[in-house]
Amino acid sequence: MKIAIYPGSFDPVTLGHLNIIKRASKAFDKVIVCVMVNSRKTGMFSPEERLDFLRRSIQMDNVEVDTYSGLVSDYAKIKNAQVLVKGLRAVSDFEAEVQMAMVNSQLNKELDTVFLPCSPKYSYLSSTVVKELARYNANLEDVLPREIIEDIKLRMEERRGVCDDKS
Ligand SMILES: Nc1ncnc2c1ncn2[C@@H]1O[C@H](COP(=O)(O)OP(=O)(O)OP(=O)(O)O)[C@@H](O)[C@H]1O
Ligand SMILES: [Mg+2]
Repeated sequence: MKIAIYPGSFDPVTLGHLNIIKRASKAFDKVIVCVMVNSRKTGMFSPEERLDFLRRSIQMDNVEVDTYSGLVSDYAKIKNAQVLVKGLRAVSDFEAEVQMAMVNSQLNKELDTVFLPCSPKYSYLSSTVVKELARYNANLEDVLPREIIEDIKLRMEERRGVCDDKS
C-alpha cells in the first residue's frame, strides 16, 4: 500500500492545500495530512482547531488527518509511509523544498518526496494571505473551503476583540 504524508502548518487549510490533497488522494492509496506542530511557530489557530478545519473540509475516504510535533521523517517511519507530498507554488518554494527533501531522505532512507505543481488558480494563495484577507473582511469564497468560512470569520472576529482590548 502506497502511503503518502502531506505535512504543513495548515493555519488554516486553504483551497490551495485542498487541491493538493484531492490530487494526492487519487495518486496514493492513503494520504495522511499532518499538522506539524512547531514550538517556535505558534500560529493563529491551535493544532486542534486546524485539525477540525481540515476534517470538515476533506470528503475523501482515503485521507486521514493527524498532528505531530517531531520530525516528519520520524513520523513517516511510524506510519510506514514511503512518500512526502509537497505543493510547489513558485520557483521561490523550490529551493527550500528541495533542500528539505534531501534532509528528509538522509534521515529516512525509505522516504521520497513528490512535488505537485500548484493549480494556477491558487498560485497566489497561502494561509498568511487568507488571514490577511479575513482580517479586512474580504470575500473568502475563492480562498477557503466553504465548510469553514463562517467559523474562521467568527474566530478571527473574537481574536480581534481580544487584541483590541489589550491595546
Ligand atoms: N496555494 C497552494 N497550492 C499548492 N500548494 C500549496 C499552496 N499553499 C501551500 N501549499 C503547500 O502546502 C504545504 C503546506 O504549506 P504551509 O502549511 O506552509 O501553507 P502556506 O499556505 O504556505 O501557509 P503559510 O502562509 O503559513 O506559510 C507546502 O508543501 C506548500 O508548498
Ligand atoms: Mg508556507
